[in-house]
Amino acid sequence: MAKNVGILAIHIYFPPTCILQEVLEAHDGASKGKYTIGLGQDCMAFCTEVEDVISMSLTVVTSLLDKYGIDPKQIGRLEVGSETVIDKSKSIKTFLMQIFEEYGNTDIEGVDSTNACYGGTAALFNCVNWVESNSWDGRYGLVVCTDSAVYAEGPARPTGGAAAIAMLIGPDAPIAFESKLRGSHMSHVYDFYKPNLASEYPVVDGKLSQTCYLMAVDSCYKQFSHKYEKLKGKQFSLSDAEYFVFHSPYNKLVQKSFARLLFNDFLRNPSSVDEVAKEKLAPFATLSGDESYQSRDLEKASQQAAKPLYDEKVQPTTLLPKQVGNMYTASLYAALVSLIHNKHSTLAGKRVILFSYGSGSTATMFSLQLRDSQHPFSLSNMAQVMDVAGKLKSRHEFPPEKFVETMKLMEHRYGAKEFVTSKDSSLLSPGTYYLTEVDSMYRRFYAKKTSESSLTPTDKGLIANGH
Ligand SMILES: CC(C)(COP(=O)(O)OP(=O)(O)OC[C@H]1O[C@@H](n2cnc3c(N)ncnc32)[C@H](O)[C@@H]1OP(=O)(O)O)[C@@H](O)C(=O)NCCC(=O)NCCS
Repeated sequence: MAKNVGILAIHIYFPPTCILQEVLEAHDGASKGKYTIGLGQDCMAFCTEVEDVISMSLTVVTSLLDKYGIDPKQIGRLEVGSETVIDKSKSIKTFLMQIFEEYGNTDIEGVDSTNACYGGTAALFNCVNWVESNSWDGRYGLVVCTDSAVYAEGPARPTGGAAAIAMLIGPDAPIAFESKLRGSHMSHVYDFYKPNLASEYPVVDGKLSQTCYLMAVDSCYKQFSHKYEKLKGKQFSLSDAEYFVFHSPYNKLVQKSFARLLFNDFLRNPSSVDEVAKEKLAPFATLSGDESYQSRDLEKASQQAAKPLYDEKVQPTTLLPKQVGNMYTASLYAALVSLIHNKHSTLAGKRVILFSYGSGSTATMFSLQLRDSQHPFSLSNMAQVMDVAGKLKSRHEFPPEKFVETMKLMEHRYGAKEFVTSKDSSLLSPGTYYLTEVDSMYRRFYAKKTSESSLTPTDKGLIANGH
């Protein structure tokens, strides 16, 4: 069996168009600080009419193959996680096949996985399980998480975002799965869902979704700790992992979630938390589970008690989720990218715990071991290839009126046929794919920007419907 299976290479793409949260806050008439301090968000990326989940994934996959020097014939499985519905039948994976067909490689298993923000994790597990299984043919797996998170006008709108992430999966990886260490929680709830197929916007019960998320955090942490204890013969607590990475609809929920983990440690084994935390949490020791989700005092006390550990174990993972927003399936992995960006030189030998949540609901907590590895699959090369700082710096901030106008145009375009886009790629970097046309049979056409000056598709950049 293949050993140390995990992420060999990772890449991220997010649109260069964004809006500052403090600008949106003022425009929406929200009280000052609500989006920035209250939700903990700094900025939000969004697709304009020339970008969508397919163009973003074409961009990120071609760029990963190019930057890490991977032969497209070496991909044996391709799995996509997304909850952005463009077609109810044809998978995003099939659009990506255009990249591989060109090299004569059509022998690639895998399709799309969908369940809110969890689809990317399902896709990742499928690839890791494949490499660990008897069916593995020795080639790489490739996982793509791609989403455009947009909300109707109202309180949820500032919790949007957009990005695509690609991860190359194989043995001897610098980000290796501890496959026996997984705890899941799955249940039937109506916290966030998309029943209206004519609209891109979800129906969201924001408060319920917060509670469902926190209940899943507790349940997964219990399952995870139980499995750890069975396997290792000792208790698990926060001190057994260096970093905790959370799916991040908005940063405040991540702060609350980590505080819940500390509260769990306190309830299970008070000696695993420090004296200050013990004192702060003691008044809440006898609350029932339900009461604990309703208690604002507990929320406040546990966040205060967890603050020093949060700064050490979670804060380095929060850059992109705060700057780009909720990227749905890509959100958790953008947090992992933030950690690699901030800490790549000191990560080897460390355990990192991830928490994935998709409304509806599905959740898993799982463990990664970070390791030294040879170029090009090293943590430092990942940081260099992704150039997170450069990507953030070269963004274009839109005024709120232009953002709202873009959202209106996208509402109009959703599910539409027979239109051509502006084909304006002036804000995109070379190598970025963009949507040019949807024809009378709903077939989508994309082009690749090949140089700063090109506004029209050139050479092989024109990607049509496979013909
Ligand atoms: C999260 C959501 C419910 C918040 O909307 P809301 O009800 O209008 O916001 P609230 O009134 O609760 O304010 C949000 C936070 O900002 C705080 N706040 C409000 N005004 C503030 C101000 N001026 N300065 C600082 N903080 C402020 C609130 O106290 C609250 O913080 P708390 O949760 O710690 O109490 C909404 O954005 C939403 O539905 N988002 C989508 C939810 C989602 O993504 N769900 C999926 C989960 S996976």
